[in-house]
Amino acid sequence: MKKHNHQQAKRPTTDKRSNHQAKRPAVSYIIKRNGAYWPSKEMKKIANISDPKIYEKAAKDPIKFWGKLAEEGISWEKKWDKTYVEKLPYFEWFKGGKLNFCINCVDRHLDQPNKTALIWIPEPINEKPIKITYGELHNKVSKFANVLKQNGIEKGDVVSIYLPMVPQALIAMLACTRIGAIHSVVFSAFSADALKTRIIDGKAKILITSDGYYRKGKPEDLLKKAKKAAKRTTVKKIIVVSRIGKKVRGRKFLNFDEELEKADDYCEPEMMKSEDTMFLLYTSGTTGKPKGVIHDTGGYATQAYWTCKWNFDLHPEDVMWCTADIGWITGHTYAMYGPLLTGATTLIYEGGPTFPNPGRWWKIIQDYKVNVFYTAPTAIRLFMKENPSWIKKHDLSSLKILGSVGEPIDKKSWMWYLEKIGGSRCPIIDTWWQTETGGTVINTLPGIGPFVPTISGKSFPGTEHVIVNEKGNPVKKGESGFLAQKSPFAPGMLHGVHNNHKKYVDTYWKKFKTMYDTSDGAHIENNLIRITGRTDDVMKVAGHRLATAEVENAIHDNKKVGDCAVVPMPDKMKGQVPIAFVVLKKSKPSEKLEKKLIKYVDKKIGPTARPKKIFFVDDLPKTRSGKIMRRILRALLINEKPEGLSTLINPDSVEKIKTIINQKIPTSNK
Ligand code: WT7
Repeated sequence: MKKHNHQQAKRPTTDKRSNHQAKRPAVSYIIKRNGAYWPSKEMKKIANISDPKIYEKAAKDPIKFWGKLAEEGISWEKKWDKTYVEKLPYFEWFKGGKLNFCINCVDRHLDQPNKTALIWIPEPINEKPIKITYGELHNKVSKFANVLKQNGIEKGDVVSIYLPMVPQALIAMLACTRIGAIHSVVFSAFSADALKTRIIDGKAKILITSDGYYRKGKPEDLLKKAKKAAKRTTVKKIIVVSRIGKKVRGRKFLNFDEELEKADDYCEPEMMKSEDTMFLLYTSGTTGKPKGVIHDTGGYATQAYWTCKWNFDLHPEDVMWCTADIGWITGHTYAMYGPLLTGATTLIYEGGPTFPNPGRWWKIIQDYKVNVFYTAPTAIRLFMKENPSWIKKHDLSSLKILGSVGEPIDKKSWMWYLEKIGGSRCPIIDTWWQTETGGTVINTLPGIGPFVPTISGKSFPGTEHVIVNEKGNPVKKGESGFLAQKSPFAPGMLHGVHNNHKKYVDTYWKKFKTMYDTSDGAHIENNLIRITGRTDDVMKVAGHRLATAEVENAIHDNKKVGDCAVVPMPDKMKGQVPIAFVVLKKSKPSEKLEKKLIKYVDKKIGPTARPKKIFFVDDLPKTRSGKIMRRILRALLINEKPEGLSTLINPDSVEKIKTIINQKIPTSNK
């Protein structure tokens, strides 16, 4: 068979090498000046970018700027004809260009086949971690790509992936990109129902899953949910990773590793158009139905590559640990693809953060000399509760950059992260972005600074965000408003919503027409952007995105429920938690029924969506047109005076609800 040598697709040679891994006292990458933190000389010395002029330079001609970055960072089979084409609400980057994403992540690093691409840490402490080199990754991905082909997967077909954090997840995803199949990864904690909706929407032909995984020391079954979800769908075959040693029988099932072993180790990569769909990822909108966000190949690759290099100052010799699950965009871009595109090493961990003790994460950082650590505020808050000796026991001097993502980070958590984990030596990069943006778009660059608690920073070079009012006009300096992105839109941005043009238009373009509506609120402070949170009916529960309507739909499905409203309530640990207000048809309210309904949500969506509390009420506050005023319920939960009572047809309902809330939640706990 003719074997192409894709090593010709060489890695970029622009890497500034750093020697921060050499043995010497922990380096300080920041200095404190005028109440803020700035990059130290050491940081500037190693930083991939440290000249603040980059912002102006990029702003002069953002299209040309991105074109240059795409050329430098990504290996193309054929150069594009047009760098950017915009016909709103759609736009395309690198039109006419051809590339294969897998070559960019794997083949082009084969000049160093023995370099570690992936470190996998299983949860059980007696089980050995696995290191996979770029050479091995190439072999496994090629083989698994052939397994997919043998099972009828062709370019453009959708493959559903429902896996925990195991190396096979990465192998399966990359194998899809090698042959031009579209992967649709579904978070393994989602329910069978949630998986089923996503399989059906994507018309997936194959489902890749595992028999289970370890969590908090116990094997958890995954296959049962997977089987249930795949019933009466387009799924013809289920490929199962054997993780907890369950017996799997049936014509529909194949064993992941056995099939991989048998397959040929050469697989010609499929050359894709830059704007061809690479993956779908479902996320919550304001309605009950999750939408399949479409990401393309060339634009996504460019943004994933450069944001790793500049936001996280990732160098090829670095180990990056992004704690996000692959079921989320953060897991896609920064636990998997970004680090591989840059030829660095990525570390993934299977299990719970505090198993077998709260020192587990810090031991991993110490043992594997992690340089870039990226996690969510909710995880930080979890560790703040623990005894600090769990951290002090471990040597965290390998750390260079700390990242935060998923929700606004409060000052206290920011300072704790900086001092306790970063030893007051590492910058915290607070990255604002979304499933839709594919990669980070607002944050501070480590070589430039400043690092200020609760501030995300500036638009990534070559992108521009503005803060506007309802009409899309810029607000006065310092005032809060809606965060919108201006043209040209970042290359990693979504390319539509799968099978739903209307939803794409309504969600992102209806409000501001020529600007992308992020649905977040923000304001500017000292020329830097502070994100204030969602402006729509979307919650962030422990960093997970969840529509209030999704939870409402799940509760509504129960026959006993007449009416229901779900709103987020601030929570010390999780940021926000869903609270449900339920009007029962006939049944009497009881604790038993509350538990039953909570379980019901678990089954319909998954444990992340579980309401923290259900209040049974007689009536929900509604406007004359029948719209539930969730804003009023939100105010009542935090003991604030609700506004807009005059628009209600049933203002009496408010006092009654207030009484019920006060009975259940003592004021001191709010
Ligand atoms: C929403 C997107 C993309 C990464 C994971 C979440 C919120 C995200 C920040 C941040 C304040 C943030 C926003 C955004 N968000 N990062 N650094 N500071 N808020 O992706 O699930 O699509 O959620 O997360 O509200 O719209 P996602």
